[in-house]
Amino acid sequence: MITSSHVVGALFAAATCVFALDLDVNDPDSIRNATSVIAHGMMSYYTGNVTNTPETVGVLGPPYYWWESGAMWGALMDYYHYTGDSSYNDVLTQALLSQVGPEQDFMVPLHAKDEGNDDQAFWGFAAMSAAEKDYPQPSSGYSWVELVERLWNTQVVRWDTESCAGGLRWQIFSFNNGYDYKNTVSNGAFFQLSARLARFTGNQTYVDWAEKVYNWTVDLNLMTEDYHVYDGADVLKNCSDQNRLIWTYNAGIYLYGSAMMYNYTNGSALWQQRTQGLFNATANFFSPFDNATDIMFEPACETVNHCNTDQFSFKGYLSRFMWATTLIAPFTKIATNQLLTASSKAAAQSCSGPGDGVTGDMMANGVQFKYILSKNFNTYKESIFTSITYVINNITSSISLGVSTLSRTESLYFKYLFLFIIKA
Ligand SMILES: *[C@@H]1O[C@H](CO)[C@@H](O)[C@H](O)[C@H]1NC(C)=O
Ligand SMILES: *[C@@H]1O[C@H](CO)[C@@H](O)[C@H](O)[C@H]1NC(C)=O
Ligand SMILES: *[C@@H]1O[C@H](CO)[C@@H](O)[C@H](O)[C@H]1NC(C)=O
Ligand SMILES: *[C@@H]1O[C@H](CO)[C@@H](O)[C@H](O)[C@H]1NC(C)=O
Ligand SMILES: *[C@@H]1O[C@H](CO)[C@@H](O)[C@H](O)[C@H]1NC(C)=O
Ligand SMILES: *[C@@H]1O[C@H](CO)[C@@H](O)[C@H](O)[C@H]1NC(C)=O
Ligand SMILES: *[C@@H]1O[C@H](CO)[C@@H](O)[C@H](O)[C@H]1NC(C)=O
Ligand SMILES: *[C@@H]1O[C@H](CO)[C@@H](O)[C@H](O)[C@H]1NC(C)=O
Ligand SMILES: *[C@@H]1O[C@H](CO)[C@@H](O)[C@H](O)[C@H]1NC(C)=O
Ligand SMILES: *[C@@H]1O[C@H](CO)[C@@H](O)[C@H](O)[C@H]1NC(C)=O
Repeated sequence: MITSSHVVGALFAAATCVFALDLDVNDPDSIRNATSVIAHGMMSYYTGNVTNTPETVGVLGPPYYWWESGAMWGALMDYYHYTGDSSYNDVLTQALLSQVGPEQDFMVPLHAKDEGNDDQAFWGFAAMSAAEKDYPQPSSGYSWVELVERLWNTQVVRWDTESCAGGLRWQIFSFNNGYDYKNTVSNGAFFQLSARLARFTGNQTYVDWAEKVYNWTVDLNLMTEDYHVYDGADVLKNCSDQNRLIWTYNAGIYLYGSAMMYNYTNGSALWQQRTQGLFNATANFFSPFDNATDIMFEPACETVNHCNTDQFSFKGYLSRFMWATTLIAPFTKIATNQLLTASSKAAAQSCSGPGDGVTGDMMANGVQFKYILSKNFNTYKESIFTSITYVINNITSSISLGVSTLSRTESLYFKYLFLFIIKA
Protein backbone atom coordinates (compact mmCIF):
# COMPACT_ATOMS: atom_id res chain seq x y z
CA MET A 1 0.00 0.00 0.00
CA ILE A 2 1.06 3.57 -0.46
CA THR A 3 1.53 5.51 2.72
CA SER A 4 2.96 8.83 1.74
CA SER A 5 0.85 11.57 0.45
CA HIS A 6 1.32 12.59 -3.18
CA VAL A 7 -0.87 15.12 -4.79
CA VAL A 8 -0.87 14.80 -8.53
CA GLY A 9 -3.70 17.16 -9.18
CA ALA A 10 -6.84 17.98 -7.31
CA LEU A 11 -10.12 18.99 -8.79
CA PHE A 12 -13.10 19.72 -6.70
CA ALA A 13 -16.83 19.73 -7.09
CA ALA A 14 -19.34 20.39 -4.39
CA ALA A 15 -21.26 17.28 -3.45
CA THR A 16 -25.00 17.36 -3.42
CA CYS A 17 -26.63 16.15 -0.28
CA VAL A 18 -28.87 13.40 -1.51
CA PHE A 19 -29.42 10.88 1.19
CA ALA A 20 -28.48 10.62 4.84
CA LEU A 21 -28.86 7.44 6.79
CA ASP A 22 -31.88 7.25 8.97
CA LEU A 23 -30.37 6.08 12.19
CA ASP A 24 -31.45 5.90 15.78
CA VAL A 25 -28.43 4.75 17.73
CA ASN A 26 -30.64 3.47 20.54
CA ASP A 27 -32.72 1.21 18.32
CA PRO A 28 -31.23 -2.15 17.30
CA ASP A 29 -33.57 -2.51 14.32
CA SER A 30 -32.65 0.91 13.06
CA ILE A 31 -29.00 0.01 13.36
CA ARG A 32 -29.42 -3.27 11.54
CA ASN A 33 -31.33 -1.52 8.81
CA ALA A 34 -28.71 1.15 8.38
CA THR A 35 -25.85 -1.35 8.31
CA SER A 36 -27.60 -3.58 5.85
CA VAL A 37 -28.13 -0.64 3.52
CA ILE A 38 -24.43 0.10 3.65
CA ALA A 39 -23.36 -3.53 3.31
CA HIS A 40 -25.60 -3.93 0.30
CA GLY A 41 -24.38 -0.71 -1.23
CA MET A 42 -20.81 -1.77 -0.76
CA MET A 43 -21.32 -5.22 -2.20
CA SER A 44 -22.96 -3.79 -5.28
CA TYR A 45 -19.48 -2.66 -6.30
CA TYR A 46 -18.06 -6.14 -6.07
CA THR A 47 -18.54 -8.22 -9.18
CA GLY A 48 -15.73 -10.72 -8.78
CA ASN A 49 -18.14 -13.46 -7.78
CA VAL A 50 -20.08 -12.98 -11.02
CA THR A 51 -17.20 -12.79 -13.44
CA ASN A 52 -15.39 -15.39 -11.37
CA THR A 53 -12.01 -15.30 -13.09
CA PRO A 54 -8.66 -15.63 -11.27
CA GLU A 55 -8.05 -11.94 -12.01
CA THR A 56 -11.32 -10.68 -10.61
CA VAL A 57 -12.51 -12.99 -7.89
CA GLY A 58 -11.93 -11.71 -4.39
CA VAL A 59 -10.74 -8.25 -5.43
CA LEU A 60 -12.24 -4.88 -6.31
CA GLY A 61 -9.62 -3.92 -8.85
CA PRO A 62 -8.18 -0.46 -9.55
CA PRO A 63 -7.93 2.03 -7.99
CA TYR A 64 -7.91 -0.20 -4.96
CA TYR A 65 -4.79 -2.11 -4.23
CA TRP A 66 -5.10 -5.78 -3.43
CA TRP A 67 -4.84 -5.20 0.32
CA GLU A 68 -7.96 -3.05 0.51
CA SER A 69 -10.04 -5.98 -0.65
CA GLY A 70 -8.61 -8.01 2.22
CA ALA A 71 -9.56 -5.15 4.51
CA MET A 72 -13.06 -5.11 3.06
CA TRP A 73 -13.60 -8.82 3.67
CA GLY A 74 -12.41 -8.35 7.23
CA ALA A 75 -15.15 -5.77 7.66
CA LEU A 76 -17.74 -8.07 6.14
CA MET A 77 -16.63 -10.79 8.54
CA ASP A 78 -17.50 -8.47 11.40
CA TYR A 79 -20.75 -7.54 9.73
CA TYR A 80 -21.89 -11.15 9.69
CA HIS A 81 -20.64 -11.83 13.19
CA TYR A 82 -22.51 -8.97 14.78
CA THR A 83 -25.66 -8.70 12.72
CA GLY A 84 -26.18 -12.37 11.99
CA ASP A 85 -26.90 -11.46 8.38
CA SER A 86 -25.30 -14.30 6.46
CA SER A 87 -26.38 -13.07 3.01
CA TYR A 88 -22.80 -12.48 1.96
CA ASN A 89 -21.11 -15.45 3.60
CA ASP A 90 -20.74 -17.53 0.46
CA VAL A 91 -19.20 -14.59 -1.35
CA LEU A 92 -16.97 -13.83 1.62
CA THR A 93 -15.68 -17.37 1.97
CA GLN A 94 -15.06 -17.66 -1.74
CA ALA A 95 -13.20 -14.35 -1.77
CA LEU A 96 -10.94 -15.15 1.16
CA LEU A 97 -10.07 -18.61 -0.07
CA SER A 98 -9.45 -17.31 -3.56
CA GLN A 99 -6.40 -15.42 -2.26
CA VAL A 100 -4.58 -18.01 -0.16
CA GLY A 101 -2.19 -18.71 -3.03
CA PRO A 102 -0.43 -21.93 -4.01
CA GLU A 103 1.26 -22.35 -0.62
CA GLN A 104 -1.88 -21.53 1.39
CA ASP A 105 -0.26 -18.53 3.04
CA PHE A 106 -1.76 -15.53 1.24
CA MET A 107 1.21 -15.17 -1.04
CA VAL A 108 -0.43 -14.61 -4.40
CA PRO A 109 1.80 -14.57 -7.50
CA LEU A 110 -0.83 -12.63 -9.46
CA HIS A 111 -0.55 -9.77 -6.96
CA ALA A 112 3.20 -9.83 -6.40
CA LYS A 113 3.45 -6.26 -7.66
CA ASP A 114 1.20 -4.98 -4.93
CA GLU A 115 1.91 -7.39 -2.15
CA GLY A 116 4.04 -6.04 0.67
CA ASN A 117 4.16 -7.43 4.18
CA ASP A 118 1.40 -5.05 5.25
CA ASP A 119 -0.81 -5.97 2.31
CA GLN A 120 -0.49 -9.66 3.06
CA ALA A 121 -1.25 -8.98 6.72
CA PHE A 122 -4.57 -7.32 5.95
CA TRP A 123 -5.77 -10.60 4.47
CA GLY A 124 -4.35 -12.24 7.58
CA PHE A 125 -6.46 -9.94 9.77
CA ALA A 126 -9.58 -11.16 7.99
CA ALA A 127 -8.62 -14.83 8.29
CA MET A 128 -7.67 -14.33 11.95
CA SER A 129 -11.07 -12.79 12.61
CA ALA A 130 -12.66 -15.81 10.98
CA ALA A 131 -10.78 -18.03 13.41
CA GLU A 132 -11.58 -15.90 16.44
CA LYS A 133 -15.23 -15.52 15.58
CA ASP A 134 -15.68 -19.18 14.83
CA TYR A 135 -16.73 -18.44 11.27
CA PRO A 136 -17.53 -21.67 9.39
CA GLN A 137 -14.25 -23.37 8.54
CA PRO A 138 -13.20 -23.98 4.93
CA SER A 139 -14.69 -27.25 3.74
CA SER A 140 -11.28 -28.53 2.72
CA GLY A 141 -7.65 -27.68 3.28
CA TYR A 142 -6.37 -25.66 6.20
CA SER A 143 -8.43 -24.10 8.96
CA TRP A 144 -8.56 -20.31 9.31
CA VAL A 145 -5.99 -20.23 12.08
CA GLU A 146 -3.71 -22.59 10.18
CA LEU A 147 -3.84 -20.26 7.21
CA VAL A 148 -2.81 -17.37 9.44
CA GLU A 149 -0.01 -19.42 10.97
CA ARG A 150 1.26 -20.23 7.50
CA LEU A 151 1.15 -16.53 6.62
CA TRP A 152 2.97 -15.70 9.86
CA ASN A 153 5.69 -18.23 9.02
CA THR A 154 6.33 -16.49 5.70
CA GLN A 155 6.81 -13.20 7.58
CA VAL A 156 8.97 -14.36 10.45
CA VAL A 157 11.72 -15.46 8.06
CA ARG A 158 11.68 -11.97 6.53
CA TRP A 159 12.78 -10.41 9.84
CA ASP A 160 15.86 -8.66 8.60
CA THR A 161 18.80 -8.10 10.95
CA GLU A 162 21.09 -6.85 8.17
CA SER A 163 20.01 -3.31 8.96
CA CYS A 164 18.16 -1.41 11.68
CA ALA A 165 18.75 -4.19 14.22
CA GLY A 166 15.82 -6.12 12.79
CA GLY A 167 12.36 -5.36 11.48
CA LEU A 168 10.37 -6.32 8.44
CA ARG A 169 10.93 -4.38 5.29
CA TRP A 170 7.80 -2.85 3.84
CA GLN A 171 8.09 -4.79 0.61
CA ILE A 172 8.64 -8.50 0.19
CA PHE A 173 10.11 -8.29 -3.31
CA SER A 174 13.09 -6.11 -4.17
CA PHE A 175 11.49 -5.10 -7.48
CA ASN A 176 8.79 -3.17 -5.63
CA ASN A 177 9.20 0.43 -4.51
CA GLY A 178 9.58 0.51 -0.77
CA TYR A 179 11.90 -2.45 -0.41
CA ASP A 180 14.39 -0.16 1.32
CA TYR A 181 11.91 1.02 3.91
CA LYS A 182 10.97 -0.50 7.23
CA ASN A 183 7.54 0.72 8.19
CA THR A 184 5.32 0.48 11.20
CA VAL A 185 2.28 -0.83 9.39
CA SER A 186 4.18 -3.94 8.29
CA ASN A 187 5.82 -4.42 11.66
CA GLY A 188 2.72 -3.42 13.61
CA ALA A 189 0.63 -5.90 11.66
CA PHE A 190 3.19 -8.62 12.36
CA PHE A 191 3.10 -7.62 16.03
CA GLN A 192 -0.68 -7.72 16.11
CA LEU A 193 -0.93 -11.06 14.31
CA SER A 194 1.68 -12.48 16.70
CA ALA A 195 -0.34 -11.26 19.67
CA ARG A 196 -3.60 -12.63 18.28
CA LEU A 197 -2.01 -15.97 17.51
CA ALA A 198 -0.53 -15.99 21.00
CA ARG A 199 -3.93 -15.52 22.56
CA PHE A 200 -5.65 -17.93 20.21
CA THR A 201 -3.12 -20.77 20.36
CA GLY A 202 -1.18 -20.17 23.59
CA ASN A 203 2.01 -20.94 21.65
CA GLN A 204 4.96 -19.18 23.31
CA THR A 205 6.68 -18.54 19.97
CA TYR A 206 4.03 -15.94 19.14
CA VAL A 207 4.26 -14.36 22.58
CA ASP A 208 8.01 -13.92 22.18
CA TRP A 209 7.67 -12.40 18.75
CA ALA A 210 4.94 -10.01 19.83
CA GLU A 211 7.28 -8.71 22.53
CA LYS A 212 10.21 -8.60 20.20
CA VAL A 213 8.45 -6.60 17.49
CA TYR A 214 6.98 -4.17 19.99
CA ASN A 215 10.44 -3.68 21.55
CA TRP A 216 11.99 -3.13 18.16
CA THR A 217 9.43 -0.44 17.33
CA VAL A 218 10.24 1.42 20.54
CA ASP A 219 14.00 0.89 20.28
CA LEU A 220 14.08 2.33 16.76
CA ASN A 221 12.12 5.38 17.97
CA LEU A 222 9.26 4.49 15.68
CA MET A 223 6.99 4.76 18.69
CA THR A 224 7.54 7.78 20.89
CA GLU A 225 7.43 8.00 24.66
CA ASP A 226 3.97 9.46 24.20
CA TYR A 227 2.96 6.40 22.16
CA HIS A 228 2.69 8.15 18.84
CA VAL A 229 3.52 5.75 16.03
CA TYR A 230 5.62 7.14 13.19
CA ASP A 231 5.40 5.82 9.65
CA GLY A 232 8.80 4.19 9.14
CA ALA A 233 12.50 4.59 8.48
CA ASP A 234 14.96 4.24 5.63
CA VAL A 235 17.01 1.04 5.46
CA LEU A 236 19.75 2.78 3.48
CA LYS A 237 20.29 5.09 6.47
CA ASN A 238 20.09 2.16 8.87
CA CYS A 239 16.83 3.68 10.17
CA SER A 240 18.79 6.52 11.76
CA ASP A 241 15.95 8.97 11.23
CA GLN A 242 12.23 8.49 10.98
CA ASN A 243 9.50 9.46 8.61
CA ARG A 244 7.36 11.12 11.26
CA LEU A 245 3.99 10.97 9.57
CA ILE A 246 1.40 9.67 12.00
CA TRP A 247 -1.53 7.68 10.62
CA THR A 248 -4.68 6.51 12.35
CA TYR A 249 -4.35 2.90 11.29
CA ASN A 250 -0.86 2.45 12.71
CA ALA A 251 -2.15 3.62 16.07
CA GLY A 252 -5.08 1.22 15.84
CA ILE A 253 -2.91 -1.72 14.84
CA TYR A 254 -0.51 -1.32 17.77
CA LEU A 255 -3.37 -0.55 20.14
CA TYR A 256 -5.20 -3.77 19.38
CA GLY A 257 -2.01 -5.84 19.46
CA SER A 258 -1.21 -4.42 22.88
CA ALA A 259 -4.74 -5.07 24.09
CA MET A 260 -4.36 -8.68 22.93
CA MET A 261 -1.19 -9.01 24.98
CA TYR A 262 -2.91 -7.36 27.93
CA ASN A 263 -5.66 -9.91 27.67
CA TYR A 264 -3.38 -12.87 27.03
CA THR A 265 -1.33 -11.99 30.12
CA ASN A 266 -4.49 -11.80 32.22
CA GLY A 267 -4.08 -8.09 32.60
CA SER A 268 -0.37 -7.44 33.10
CA ALA A 269 0.48 -3.96 34.33
CA LEU A 270 3.01 -3.50 31.52
CA TRP A 271 0.56 -4.23 28.72
CA GLN A 272 -2.17 -2.28 30.45
CA GLN A 273 0.09 0.76 30.48
CA ARG A 274 0.95 0.31 26.81
CA THR A 275 -2.68 -0.17 25.84
CA GLN A 276 -3.68 2.89 27.83
CA GLY A 277 -0.82 4.91 26.38
CA LEU A 278 -1.72 3.98 22.81
CA PHE A 279 -5.35 4.74 23.55
CA ASN A 280 -4.39 8.13 24.98
CA ALA A 281 -2.43 8.90 21.85
CA THR A 282 -5.53 8.42 19.71
CA ALA A 283 -6.65 11.80 21.03
CA ASN A 284 -4.53 13.06 18.16
CA PHE A 285 -7.15 11.77 15.72
CA PHE A 286 -10.24 13.39 17.15
CA SER A 287 -11.59 16.91 17.29
CA PRO A 288 -10.12 18.47 14.15
CA PHE A 289 -11.63 21.83 15.14
CA ASP A 290 -12.82 23.28 18.42
CA ASN A 291 -16.35 23.03 17.17
CA ALA A 292 -16.03 19.38 16.06
CA THR A 293 -15.42 17.53 19.29
CA ASP A 294 -14.72 13.80 19.22
CA ILE A 295 -14.95 13.52 15.44
CA MET A 296 -12.37 11.17 14.00
CA PHE A 297 -10.15 12.54 11.25
CA GLU A 298 -6.84 11.81 9.56
CA PRO A 299 -4.52 14.64 10.60
CA ALA A 300 -1.75 13.84 8.15
CA CYS A 301 -3.86 14.46 5.08
CA GLU A 302 -7.51 15.13 5.64
CA THR A 303 -7.85 18.74 6.63
CA VAL A 304 -5.48 19.68 3.83
CA ASN A 305 -7.18 17.49 1.24
CA HIS A 306 -4.16 15.36 0.48
CA CYS A 307 -5.44 11.87 1.24
CA ASN A 308 -4.93 9.18 -1.39
CA THR A 309 -7.11 6.14 -1.96
CA ASP A 310 -5.35 4.06 0.67
CA GLN A 311 -5.34 6.82 3.22
CA PHE A 312 -9.05 7.47 2.95
CA SER A 313 -9.66 4.05 4.41
CA PHE A 314 -7.27 4.25 7.37
CA LYS A 315 -9.82 5.53 9.86
CA GLY A 316 -11.80 2.38 9.22
CA TYR A 317 -9.02 0.34 10.82
CA LEU A 318 -8.57 2.67 13.75
CA SER A 319 -12.28 2.39 14.45
CA ARG A 320 -12.27 -1.36 14.01
CA PHE A 321 -9.37 -1.83 16.37
CA MET A 322 -10.54 0.71 18.94
CA TRP A 323 -13.86 -1.05 19.29
CA ALA A 324 -12.24 -4.46 19.28
CA THR A 325 -9.89 -3.28 22.01
CA THR A 326 -12.79 -2.50 24.32
CA LEU A 327 -13.87 -6.14 24.14
CA ILE A 328 -10.59 -7.54 25.41
CA ALA A 329 -9.37 -4.58 27.45
CA PRO A 330 -12.61 -3.33 28.98
CA PHE A 331 -10.93 -0.52 30.87
CA THR A 332 -10.87 1.39 27.57
CA LYS A 333 -14.60 1.05 26.99
CA ILE A 334 -16.10 4.20 28.42
CA ALA A 335 -13.57 6.54 26.88
CA THR A 336 -13.74 4.80 23.51
CA ASN A 337 -17.49 4.89 23.53
CA GLN A 338 -17.51 8.64 23.97
CA LEU A 339 -15.24 9.19 20.99
CA LEU A 340 -16.86 6.78 18.61
CA THR A 341 -20.44 7.59 19.48
CA ALA A 342 -19.92 11.22 18.58
CA SER A 343 -18.20 10.22 15.36
CA SER A 344 -20.96 7.82 14.45
CA LYS A 345 -23.68 10.37 14.91
CA ALA A 346 -21.80 12.84 12.77
CA ALA A 347 -21.32 10.28 10.04
CA ALA A 348 -24.93 9.17 9.99
CA GLN A 349 -26.04 12.75 9.56
CA SER A 350 -23.73 13.29 6.66
CA CYS A 351 -24.83 13.28 3.07
CA SER A 352 -24.56 10.10 1.10
CA GLY A 353 -25.12 8.97 -2.42
CA PRO A 354 -28.45 8.09 -3.92
CA GLY A 355 -29.75 4.95 -2.32
CA ASP A 356 -26.61 2.99 -1.66
CA GLY A 357 -25.68 4.67 1.59
CA VAL A 358 -22.00 4.35 0.87
CA THR A 359 -20.93 7.75 -0.28
CA GLY A 360 -20.71 10.85 1.78
CA ASP A 361 -18.98 13.81 3.25
CA MET A 362 -18.51 13.87 6.96
CA MET A 363 -20.48 16.56 8.65
CA ALA A 364 -19.09 17.45 12.03
CA ASN A 365 -21.03 20.02 13.99
CA GLY A 366 -21.62 22.00 10.88
CA VAL A 367 -18.15 21.56 9.46
CA GLN A 368 -18.41 19.77 6.19
CA PHE A 369 -15.24 17.90 5.41
CA LYS A 370 -14.42 17.63 1.76
CA TYR A 371 -12.37 14.78 0.52
CA ILE A 372 -10.69 15.53 -2.73
CA LEU A 373 -9.22 12.95 -4.99
CA SER A 374 -5.52 13.32 -5.49
CA LYS A 375 -5.05 11.12 -8.52
CA ASN A 376 -6.57 10.92 -11.93
CA PHE A 377 -8.91 8.02 -11.48
CA ASN A 378 -11.49 9.32 -13.86
CA THR A 379 -12.48 5.97 -15.26
CA TYR A 380 -13.66 4.48 -12.03
CA LYS A 381 -16.69 4.56 -9.90
CA GLU A 382 -15.82 2.39 -6.99
CA SER A 383 -16.56 2.05 -3.36
CA ILE A 384 -14.97 0.35 -0.48
CA PHE A 385 -16.23 -0.64 2.84
CA THR A 386 -13.39 -0.64 5.24
CA SER A 387 -14.54 -1.44 8.67
CA ILE A 388 -17.44 -2.81 10.54
CA THR A 389 -16.81 -3.39 14.15
CA TYR A 390 -18.89 -3.80 17.21
CA VAL A 391 -18.24 -3.27 20.81
CA ILE A 392 -20.00 -4.70 23.76
CA ASN A 393 -21.09 -1.83 25.90
CA ASN A 394 -23.10 -3.18 28.73
CA ILE A 395 -25.67 -3.89 26.15
CA THR A 396 -24.61 -6.04 23.27
CA SER A 397 -22.64 -4.35 20.61
CA SER A 398 -21.97 -1.45 18.39
CA ILE A 399 -20.79 -1.07 14.86
CA SER A 400 -18.49 1.20 12.99
CA LEU A 401 -18.29 1.54 9.27
CA GLY A 402 -15.65 3.32 7.33
CA VAL A 403 -16.62 3.76 3.74
CA SER A 404 -14.98 5.72 1.03
CA THR A 405 -16.29 6.12 -2.42
CA LEU A 406 -14.88 7.46 -5.58
CA SER A 407 -17.31 8.96 -8.01
CA ARG A 408 -17.11 10.75 -11.30
CA THR A 409 -19.12 13.86 -11.92
CA GLU A 410 -18.21 16.93 -13.91
CA SER A 411 -15.05 17.05 -11.92
CA LEU A 412 -13.40 14.43 -9.86
CA TYR A 413 -13.95 14.31 -6.20
CA PHE A 414 -13.64 11.91 -3.43
CA LYS A 415 -16.08 11.48 -0.67
CA TYR A 416 -15.92 9.65 2.53
CA LEU A 417 -18.49 8.47 4.94
CA PHE A 418 -17.54 7.30 8.32
CA LEU A 419 -20.15 5.72 10.44
CA PHE A 420 -20.16 4.19 13.86
CA ILE A 421 -23.28 2.69 15.20
CA ILE A 422 -24.00 1.68 18.71
CA LYS A 423 -26.26 -1.31 18.79
CA ALA A 424 -28.40 -1.67 21.85
C1 LIG B 1 -36.23 -1.51 8.99
O1 LIG B 1 -36.54 -1.77 7.63
C2 LIG B 1 -37.80 -2.37 7.45
C3 LIG B 1 -37.93 -2.72 5.98
O2 LIG B 1 -37.55 -1.64 5.18
C4 LIG B 1 -38.90 -1.43 7.92
O3 LIG B 1 -40.15 -2.05 7.80
C5 LIG B 1 -38.66 -1.11 9.39
O4 LIG B 1 -39.58 -0.12 9.82
C6 LIG B 1 -37.27 -0.58 9.60
N1 LIG B 1 -37.05 -0.45 11.02
C7 LIG B 1 -36.52 0.63 11.54
C8 LIG B 1 -36.38 0.62 13.04
O5 LIG B 1 -36.13 1.57 10.89
C1 LIG C 1 -22.43 -11.96 -6.03
O1 LIG C 1 -22.51 -11.27 -4.81
C2 LIG C 1 -23.59 -10.38 -4.74
C3 LIG C 1 -23.49 -9.66 -3.45
O2 LIG C 1 -23.46 -10.56 -2.39
C4 LIG C 1 -24.91 -11.15 -4.87
O3 LIG C 1 -25.97 -10.23 -4.87
C5 LIG C 1 -24.91 -11.95 -6.15
O4 LIG C 1 -26.03 -12.75 -6.19
C6 LIG C 1 -23.66 -12.82 -6.23
N1 LIG C 1 -23.62 -13.47 -7.53
C7 LIG C 1 -23.23 -14.73 -7.68
C8 LIG C 1 -23.24 -15.25 -9.08
O5 LIG C 1 -22.88 -15.41 -6.75
C1 LIG D 1 22.14 0.26 12.77
O1 LIG D 1 21.10 0.60 13.69
C2 LIG D 1 20.99 -0.29 14.78
C3 LIG D 1 19.74 0.08 15.58
O2 LIG D 1 19.77 1.41 15.94
C4 LIG D 1 22.26 -0.26 15.61
O3 LIG D 1 22.15 -1.19 16.67
C5 LIG D 1 23.43 -0.62 14.71
O4 LIG D 1 24.64 -0.49 15.44
C6 LIG D 1 23.48 0.26 13.49
N1 LIG D 1 24.51 -0.24 12.57
C7 LIG D 1 25.35 0.56 11.98
C8 LIG D 1 26.32 -0.09 11.05
O5 LIG D 1 25.38 1.77 12.18
C1 LIG E 1 4.39 -22.70 17.67
O1 LIG E 1 4.34 -21.90 16.50
C2 LIG E 1 5.47 -22.03 15.67
C3 LIG E 1 5.32 -21.03 14.52
O2 LIG E 1 4.17 -21.30 13.77
C4 LIG E 1 5.60 -23.45 15.17
O3 LIG E 1 6.76 -23.58 14.40
C5 LIG E 1 5.67 -24.40 16.37
O4 LIG E 1 5.63 -25.73 15.90
C6 LIG E 1 4.49 -24.16 17.29
N1 LIG E 1 4.66 -24.96 18.49
C7 LIG E 1 3.75 -25.78 18.93
C8 LIG E 1 4.06 -26.49 20.21
O5 LIG E 1 2.69 -25.96 18.35
C1 LIG F 1 11.32 -6.55 25.49
O1 LIG F 1 11.79 -5.51 26.33
C2 LIG F 1 11.52 -5.73 27.70
C3 LIG F 1 12.00 -4.52 28.46
O2 LIG F 1 11.30 -3.40 28.03
C4 LIG F 1 12.24 -6.98 28.17
O3 LIG F 1 11.87 -7.25 29.52
C5 LIG F 1 11.82 -8.17 27.32
O4 LIG F 1 12.59 -9.29 27.66
C6 LIG F 1 12.01 -7.86 25.85
N1 LIG F 1 11.46 -8.96 25.10
C7 LIG F 1 12.02 -9.47 24.02
C8 LIG F 1 11.37 -10.67 23.43
O5 LIG F 1 13.02 -8.98 23.53
C1 LIG G 1 -4.24 -16.60 32.70
O1 LIG G 1 -5.11 -17.18 33.64
C2 LIG G 1 -5.47 -18.51 33.33
C3 LIG G 1 -6.54 -18.94 34.32
O2 LIG G 1 -6.12 -18.65 35.61
C4 LIG G 1 -4.24 -19.39 33.38
O3 LIG G 1 -4.57 -20.69 33.02
C5 LIG G 1 -3.23 -18.84 32.37
O4 LIG G 1 -2.02 -19.58 32.45
C6 LIG G 1 -2.93 -17.38 32.64
N1 LIG G 1 -2.13 -16.88 31.52
C7 LIG G 1 -0.98 -16.25 31.70
C8 LIG G 1 -0.26 -15.83 30.47
O5 LIG G 1 -0.52 -16.00 32.79
C1 LIG H 1 -3.46 8.41 29.82
O1 LIG H 1 -4.18 9.62 30.07
C2 LIG H 1 -4.65 9.72 31.41
C3 LIG H 1 -5.56 10.93 31.49
O2 LIG H 1 -4.95 12.03 30.92
C4 LIG H 1 -3.45 9.83 32.33
O3 LIG H 1 -3.89 9.90 33.66
C5 LIG H 1 -2.60 8.57 32.17
O4 LIG H 1 -1.43 8.69 32.93
C6 LIG H 1 -2.23 8.35 30.71
N1 LIG H 1 -1.61 7.05 30.62
C7 LIG H 1 -0.55 6.79 29.87
C8 LIG H 1 0.02 5.42 29.94
O5 LIG H 1 -0.06 7.61 29.13
C1 LIG I 1 -10.09 -10.78 28.13
O1 LIG I 1 -11.11 -10.80 27.17
C2 LIG I 1 -12.33 -11.37 27.63
C3 LIG I 1 -13.28 -11.33 26.45
O2 LIG I 1 -12.82 -12.17 25.43
C4 LIG I 1 -12.86 -10.58 28.80
O3 LIG I 1 -14.02 -11.20 29.28
C5 LIG I 1 -11.82 -10.50 29.87
O4 LIG I 1 -12.29 -9.66 30.92
C6 LIG I 1 -10.53 -9.94 29.32
N1 LIG I 1 -9.49 -9.97 30.33
C7 LIG I 1 -9.05 -8.89 30.92
C8 LIG I 1 -7.92 -9.08 31.87
O5 LIG I 1 -9.51 -7.79 30.72
C1 LIG J 1 -16.06 25.37 12.95
O1 LIG J 1 -14.68 25.69 12.89
C2 LIG J 1 -14.16 25.72 11.58
C3 LIG J 1 -12.65 25.91 11.66
O2 LIG J 1 -12.35 26.96 12.52
C4 LIG J 1 -14.84 26.81 10.78
O3 LIG J 1 -14.35 26.79 9.46
C5 LIG J 1 -16.34 26.53 10.75
O4 LIG J 1 -17.01 27.58 10.11
C6 LIG J 1 -16.90 26.37 12.15
N1 LIG J 1 -18.28 25.92 12.06
C7 LIG J 1 -19.23 26.42 12.78
C8 LIG J 1 -20.61 25.86 12.57
O5 LIG J 1 -19.03 27.28 13.62
C1 LIG K 1 -25.98 0.09 30.87
O1 LIG K 1 -27.36 0.11 30.57
C2 LIG K 1 -28.14 0.75 31.56
C3 LIG K 1 -29.60 0.58 31.16
O2 LIG K 1 -29.79 0.87 29.80
C4 LIG K 1 -27.72 2.21 31.63
O3 LIG K 1 -28.47 2.89 32.63
C5 LIG K 1 -26.24 2.30 31.96
O4 LIG K 1 -25.81 3.63 31.93
C6 LIG K 1 -25.44 1.50 30.96
N1 LIG K 1 -24.03 1.46 31.35
C7 LIG K 1 -23.05 1.79 30.52
C8 LIG K 1 -21.66 1.67 31.04
O5 LIG K 1 -23.25 2.18 29.38
